[in-house]
Amino acid sequence: MLQLRDLRRSVRLPSHEELHILRGIDLTVEPGDHVAIVGRSGSGKSTLLNLLGLIDRQTGGELLFDGTDVSRLGERRRARLRGASIGFVFQQFNLLERRTALENVMMPLMYGSPGQFWRRERLAMEMLDRVGLADRAPQQPSRLSGGEQQRVAVARALVRRPRLILADEPTGALDVTTGEAVMALLDEIARESDAALVTITHDLQVAALSRRSYLLDEGTLHDVTTSQAHDALSATVGIRAGREAVAASTGAPTGASRDATEQFREVQA
Ligand SMILES: Nc1ncnc2c1ncn2[C@@H]1O[C@H](COP(=O)(O)OP(=O)(O)OP(=O)(O)O)[C@@H](O)[C@H]1O
Ligand SMILES: [Mg+2]
Repeated sequence: MLQLRDLRRSVRLPSHEELHILRGIDLTVEPGDHVAIVGRSGSGKSTLLNLLGLIDRQTGGELLFDGTDVSRLGERRRARLRGASIGFVFQQFNLLERRTALENVMMPLMYGSPGQFWRRERLAMEMLDRVGLADRAPQQPSRLSGGEQQRVAVARALVRRPRLILADEPTGALDVTTGEAVMALLDEIARESDAALVTITHDLQVAALSRRSYLLDEGTLHDVTTSQAHDALSATVGIRAGREAVAASTGAPTGASRDATEQFREVQA
């Protein structure tokens, strides 16, 4: 369904220096897959997700959706494909505050097929019921707990039955137990509809729910088991913390393998 071949994304910094965020990503995602991507802050996870979600365009390599190179499509076709085939779940729920839970879930159906449009209220209600919140349909998000808000967001992401679900730190704003419940639900509903799920997470418990885990480091993906991801994550964090501590105590620059974020900040300063 989704094929990434040597996918690259770089940006030009104000200094005219080129920042290579993704340096050649190869990945295949099939219907029913659940892929987790872990990586330290600044490693390019959101950049990658924005490419997968057709929000951003690559600067090199190929991104194929059902065999079509989506970088060749115009904005309107990309937007249509995004709306019909991709569902997003974010760390900060991103619900509309002045609308009810039901209205939030109905929102994507406004842009759906005529059949989805006319049946929007019933379809949204069914999805709310599926995430266990049918009785909260008339409530505004501010009246719901964090876990409930994220379940509304899950219902909104899935109501058009997308074939690809992209979740960027979906449990980041929730406590551990609530996060696990939300994640299990997301995984379950994705599986039911044979959708592919790509989850970005710092949380190795969350990554453990996936079928495959990858570590994003130095702009490339490394196939890892969850325990390897754990070691690799703590190692990079450890190395970076160590390097920063040395730099802070000596005032020395942190060397060639600095984080891209640091490079960016430095260039801006
Ligand atoms: N448009 C841009 N211009 C300049 N630098 C950028 C741009 N977009 C991303 N970056 C830099 O690229 C790197 C990767 O960013 P990204 O947001 O993908 O990281 P991340 O892995 O999602 O981090 P986090 O876990 O903190 O969310 C960062 O160093 C960021 O500052
Ligand atoms: Mg991010």
